[in-house]
Amino acid sequence: MSSFAACIFDLDGVIVDTARYHFSAWRRLANELGFDFTEEENEQLKGVGRMQSLELILSWGGKELTSGEKMEWSVKKNEWYLDLIKEMDEAEILPGTVHFLDELRANKIKVALGSASKNARTILGRIGLTNYFDAIVDGNLTTNPKPHPEVFLKGANAVQVAPESCVVFEDALKGVEAAIAGGMHVIGVGKPEILTEADHVISSLKEMSFAKLNNILKEKTIIT
Ligand code: BG6
Ligand code: MG
Repeated sequence: MSSFAACIFDLDGVIVDTARYHFSAWRRLANELGFDFTEEENEQLKGVGRMQSLELILSWGGKELTSGEKMEWSVKKNEWYLDLIKEMDEAEILPGTVHFLDELRANKIKVALGSASKNARTILGRIGLTNYFDAIVDGNLTTNPKPHPEVFLKGANAVQVAPESCVVFEDALKGVEAAIAGGMHVIGVGKPEILTEADHVISSLKEMSFAKLNNILKEKTIIT
């Protein structure tokens, strides 16, 4: 292909650092159920949907709940999480994001969001970035969690770009796998030793620009 036509962004961990708020709310849940879990264990929750995260946490604590109780606790966790992010504003946008989004728009590249979060629209609104996105696909629109490619394929479809012309930005290994499963190119945002399957890894969007992305894709002979 001669060029790429769309970028699809994960939200949590790429555009905004919500992991610490999720951790704090999940930890409160674990503590109220009488156990605790570590920051290392929390790493495994990145990119993982709400109910699936709850299942993992309960397994770490050796707790069994009925499906009704699980529903109640997941609602509580989300209330605590929403309370933690209620003061969130544009100051929490991760460095480099706005500049890169501006460049993509100036170069007529479609921009989509592909997030597991059911709070994605609330967060984008709070940080003032909603209008940058031509399409928003979140946890309310998907049934298959990452590493299933559904969220990214829906994003590509919404902006009418073929998967092979899309570049995904992801901080979670499961998200990187989802992008690959969807036939897309993927820039990992985080640690190269974790995001081993990504085409290229950056530590944050601060390291990214339209020119750099073109160079990376050319080097990999993804574009000509
Ligand atoms: C992902 C986060 O983006 O969304 C996970 O990485 C989170 O940590 C998941 O559990 C679901 O989010 P929410 O906001 O719907 O509970
Ligand atoms: Mg993420």
